Amino acid sequence: MSFYITTPIYYVNDIPHIGHAYTTIVADVLTRYHKLFGEESFMLTGTDEHGQKVQAKAKEFDKDPKAFVDEIVLRFIDAWKGLDIQYDIFMRTTFDYHILGVQKALQKIFDQGDIYEKTYDGWYCVSDEIFYTEKDVVEGKCPNGHALQKISEKNYFFKMSKYQQQLIEHIEKNPDFIRPDYRKNEVLGFLKKPLEDLCISRPKSRLSWGIELPFDKDYVTYVWFDALMNYCTAVGYGDSKREKEFSKRWPNVIHLIGKDILTTHAIYWPTILMGLGLSLPKMIFAHGWWLTGENEKMSKSQGKVVRPLDLKDVVGVDGLRYFLTRDIFLGNDAQFSQDLVIARVNSELANNLGNLQSRATNLIDKFFGGKIPPPTKISTLKDPTEAAAELLKSSILSFSPNVAVGHVVDLLNHANKYLEEKAPWKTAKTDLSAAGDVLYDALEVLRISGILLHPVMPTKMTELLRRIGWSKTPNFEDAKKWGMLQEGTAVTKGDPLFPRVETKNT
Ligand code: MSP
Repeated sequence: MSFYITTPIYYVNDIPHIGHAYTTIVADVLTRYHKLFGEESFMLTGTDEHGQKVQAKAKEFDKDPKAFVDEIVLRFIDAWKGLDIQYDIFMRTTFDYHILGVQKALQKIFDQGDIYEKTYDGWYCVSDEIFYTEKDVVEGKCPNGHALQKISEKNYFFKMSKYQQQLIEHIEKNPDFIRPDYRKNEVLGFLKKPLEDLCISRPKSRLSWGIELPFDKDYVTYVWFDALMNYCTAVGYGDSKREKEFSKRWPNVIHLIGKDILTTHAIYWPTILMGLGLSLPKMIFAHGWWLTGENEKMSKSQGKVVRPLDLKDVVGVDGLRYFLTRDIFLGNDAQFSQDLVIARVNSELANNLGNLQSRATNLIDKFFGGKIPPPTKISTLKDPTEAAAELLKSSILSFSPNVAVGHVVDLLNHANKYLEEKAPWKTAKTDLSAAGDVLYDALEVLRISGILLHPVMPTKMTELLRRIGWSKTPNFEDAKKWGMLQEGTAVTKGDPLFPRVETKNT
């Protein structure tokens, strides 16, 4: 089976922030886990470059939109490089092949009679890039509290309403289509009311920065239609030379998104796909938000920018990746602050994992000349360690990365207690072989934990494994098997792998 996961493609009206970094890191972590399990895995991220919001921002800087997006996109590419993201495709909606794919899709829907023209009277929210009707307006603002523009103009509409019943049936028949469950219920609740048709155009007189409609050159495509199509065009939709690739990737696609863009992904997108006669995504998983102390969403539009790369300087790239994976249930909201990041990194990486590693390697250095001692009996740690690997795998397969990591944390806690009880630093003086057994066990727990945490902290875990004498490319099969470290292999002490981060509060 092959695994294909997408992040939303991000607006390029500003720099990358922690919200973008979060979705992208989770997608990267999940992709790396699937690779660790031996599955062929593929990840897409990218940028959403058309639309009114981006056009307005370019104007603010007195730049041509294309020149502006070419500049901003580099910040996303740099940010992902700095956060060790291993995507397979970085998609841009200004790519020629994307533009052709979108036009092909529009033409197909138009030709089959699913697009018609009418005068649109309503509201537009530039921040969300969403059309709203009178009934959605709350005190003159959109439901998300943003300013609205009154619009009355001739536009093209996609017959979304035609697919409403088919969508309801699909959601009901496929319990994993929208996750978590409460989001599925939200969507079904929304679908109880009659669905309106979707405006899919903007007159060029109002917005020129977009993909021209193939059947009317006075219009550009509505930015969400354009953006959603990227998931298909990225893997070959619309290109006759890439049909094989498309039929291989598309049926397995999983969309990881934030809860704020659920309607566009769980309602607009599936109906568009039905119009195109394509299969629906395997899953749409909506994650929650990172909130600040005042329970506000951290995002650029509210000026609450936390640059992911800034925190990286405090706790390291892997520390930040660890926090974002560990401190939130995928789907829920959680609090974000520098203190919370530091507290988590200090307690679980500097103390728990770091302690086990430094104690084990220091004692082996001291009593065994830096060489792995021979194990003389089967350890009581064998079963819980092998079990942790299986538990981690099933948590990843059910989209619970924080729970998955928790299994390794429990194992490391257990191993630290074991070391404390057995006190090899004392027994080494009277029974060297017993001390060697305990230290071998500690190294085995570290080896398996290092493999299991590699997708979350690729750089640090590669270093950990190197220090304990394990140079093989991490793979799950080796994490399921106790006792693979060879006696006599050299181990390295080194500086602390996760130095404790000191703050005023610690
Ligand atoms: N361009 C659209 C997506 C088109 S996909 C076909 C868009 N872009 S965005 O730049 O606004 O990025 C939105 C993503 O960032 C969402 O998934 C959103 O949930 C996420 N986050 C923004 N702030 C966030 C937090 N404070 N916490 C977690 N994620 C949040 O929407």
